[in-house]
Amino acid sequence: MRLILAILVIILVSINVASSWSCADSDMTFPPGVTIKCSDSSCATDEQSLTVSFCSSKYYCDQTTFDCIEKSDQGGPCSDDNECLTGYECVDSTCGAYNYAQSGETCSNTNQCIEGLECTSGACTLGTNGCTDNDQCAYGKYCNTTSQDCFDRISDQQPCIIGLDEKPCGSYSKCVPTVLGSNSSICVPYFSLGETKACGDEATDETNACDISKGLDCFSGTCQLLSANGYNQTQFSGNCNDPNLALDPCNENSQCTCIQSDRGVCISQVASSVDEIRTCGAVSMRMTACAVEHKCNEQAGQSVKNCFWQHCGEEFCGSLADCAPIYKELTSELVCVIEGLLPLPCSTLGYSIGAAGSSISLISLSSVLMISFVSLLF
Ligand SMILES: *[C@@H]1O[C@H](CO)[C@@H](O)[C@H](O)[C@H]1NC(C)=O
Ligand SMILES: *[C@@H]1O[C@H](CO)[C@@H](O)[C@H](O)[C@H]1NC(C)=O
Ligand SMILES: *[C@@H]1O[C@H](CO)[C@@H](O)[C@H](O)[C@H]1NC(C)=O
Repeated sequence: MRLILAILVIILVSINVASSWSCADSDMTFPPGVTIKCSDSSCATDEQSLTVSFCSSKYYCDQTTFDCIEKSDQGGPCSDDNECLTGYECVDSTCGAYNYAQSGETCSNTNQCIEGLECTSGACTLGTNGCTDNDQCAYGKYCNTTSQDCFDRISDQQPCIIGLDEKPCGSYSKCVPTVLGSNSSICVPYFSLGETKACGDEATDETNACDISKGLDCFSGTCQLLSANGYNQTQFSGNCNDPNLALDPCNENSQCTCIQSDRGVCISQVASSVDEIRTCGAVSMRMTACAVEHKCNEQAGQSVKNCFWQHCGEEFCGSLADCAPIYKELTSELVCVIEGLLPLPCSTLGYSIGAAGSSISLISLSSVLMISFVSLLF
């Protein structure tokens, strides 16, 4: 689901420095042991007491004065998107919901429709220029970019050709071989395959095809229990920038995350136990089922009014804790940091993603985000 992907890209930009191996560029250069606070008044750092303050979700940080300033609600004034509550954009100096309505959804103005659609007779419709992107088509259709028109996708259980995206399976379906090694393939819904079922060819293991709520993932072309295969994680604690480290010190299942300007640790990207993966997988499956039920296209974005947030937002925000149990331990103090890194419109919609509890360190916070990263990735 691209929504999740978009969120995760932002997380990676925020806390991952693996690509360049330079901790110096990281936003997150706090030593362990710092106190992180959510504040409604100040976003200044107090070096004496090692306290780093972030504005809570309904405020933004004025980068000149380090004051927290209340964000505008829909219709309120702004000069930049970050001055609006998460999920609204700043257009013509006013915060509002834009760019969210899918093909066929009601609208009163073209800027409410997903880019490329026009508001015609009260509904978002494909303009005379045709489509350039699948998300401009109604749910269940794809864009033929040659003819720039929308056509039906391939139904589940019908033949498909792996790697041929032009006529794709459903938004939440995958093209997999009928049996391992066969060159005949069919579309199957996400997370629908049981143990030993073919889920890829030799070159690709399809993610999201196997039933993750049973702890199954795709390995060497078939769905296998994670416990049998495990994710092999490297343990590393040292300087990510050490010139003697010719290679990425962390393996593919972990990432070097900066904790100081010159020091990083490998942090697991995956939920640490099979139980966690199963529980979290069940969340991914429910979110997919919700998107399918409400015919939400993959394109979601952050607008509070888009199909996914309107129909699945409450459960998504509420389920983050199931997915990463450590969320349950978050103090409300820390929720702002998560909300800052994951720009989810949860608080704008009135849903909480954290609960009262004890404080956790930044390092576990990063690992929480990494857990959500892989577990929710689809
Ligand atoms: C896409 O449209 C072009 C031009 O009309 C057509 O030749 C082609 O077969 C179409 N592709 C699919 C997959 O429908
Ligand atoms: C499948 O593979 C067989 C044998 O390699 C080949 O003869 C056949 O043309 C292939 N079918 C398709 C649809 O690619
Ligand atoms: C995990 O990785 C280490 C180092 O690459 C390797 O020696 C070990 O055999 C791997 N374990 C499994 C179960 O693949």
